[in-house]
Amino acid sequence: MQLLINQILEKVKQNKKYRTISDEIVLDEIQNYLKKNPNESVNDLMIKSIRKNLHRLYSSYSRGKKHKKNKLLEELRKNQNDLEIIKKILGTVVSAKERLYEYEKIYSEIFKITGKPATILDLGCGLNPISFPFMNLKKLDYYAYDIDEEDIQFLNEYFKLMKSKGLNGRAQILNVRDFEKISKLPSSDLIFLLKIIDLIDINNHKSSEELIKILIKKTRFIVASFATRTISGKPMNLPRRRGFEFMLKRIGLKFETFSIKNEVFYVISK
Ligand SMILES: C[S@@+](CC[C@H](N)C(=O)[O-])C[C@H]1O[C@@H](n2cnc3c(N)ncnc32)[C@H](O)[C@@H]1O
Repeated sequence: MQLLINQILEKVKQNKKYRTISDEIVLDEIQNYLKKNPNESVNDLMIKSIRKNLHRLYSSYSRGKKHKKNKLLEELRKNQNDLEIIKKILGTVVSAKERLYEYEKIYSEIFKITGKPATILDLGCGLNPISFPFMNLKKLDYYAYDIDEEDIQFLNEYFKLMKSKGLNGRAQILNVRDFEKISKLPSSDLIFLLKIIDLIDINNHKSSEELIKILIKKTRFIVASFATRTISGKPMNLPRRRGFEFMLKRIGLKFETFSIKNEVFYVISK
């Protein structure tokens, strides 16, 4: 069995797109597949199906500009106050690029409700932690989690650089669907779930409900966000947002919302 799993893992990761995704996540998808299709040996349809699920989770976040990002990080090393470099790094990924000119507004809206945080946890963070300079905070402990090895490494390099700016950060691999590990996370003032809920909820809000119930014990506020438009500009998924609001009310949580052009934010509390 272990041999089969290793063969599948190797085959899935032969495609460049999935090379830097953490093994743990790929193994999760392999186990799911084998549960539904026992006794199969490695075959093309199997690999295609596993990659398809990984694509949904992961590849919506276009990556692959490693060289460019590393060059920008070198420039930042020379001048940590240069916001243009920060913007260029954020501009290498879609969700952060869309917010580029709204980051200050987003953080000021959030902190108006939550107060200034001393500690933030960011789950499924992508490159969002790079936006720290737009928070206008003198000091922050930032714990960032994602499933991409390359992003995690990049963030840790960034955190080293920004220590002198009051940012005390640490990035690690963590699957937001691994509730056992999630329940062991440290407490914080704020937890970000930015554009990640649609990825973990497939048909209903069961997974995000469980996640939010665990997280709200560890923090005063959760900030969740959703895309309001598809990449082609069409409005999307309003009924699901309503379903999410209904779920929050049902489990006794309060929320305030605000929007920017392509994204709606929920600031959730007890
Ligand atoms: C749409 S992006 C959002 C990134 C970031 N939160 C933001 O809003 O800028 C989704 C992110 O979630 C990560 N991701 C997907 N599935 C995950 C999982 N199960 N656990 C942790 N991170 C995950 C992806 O690697 C990607 O970085």
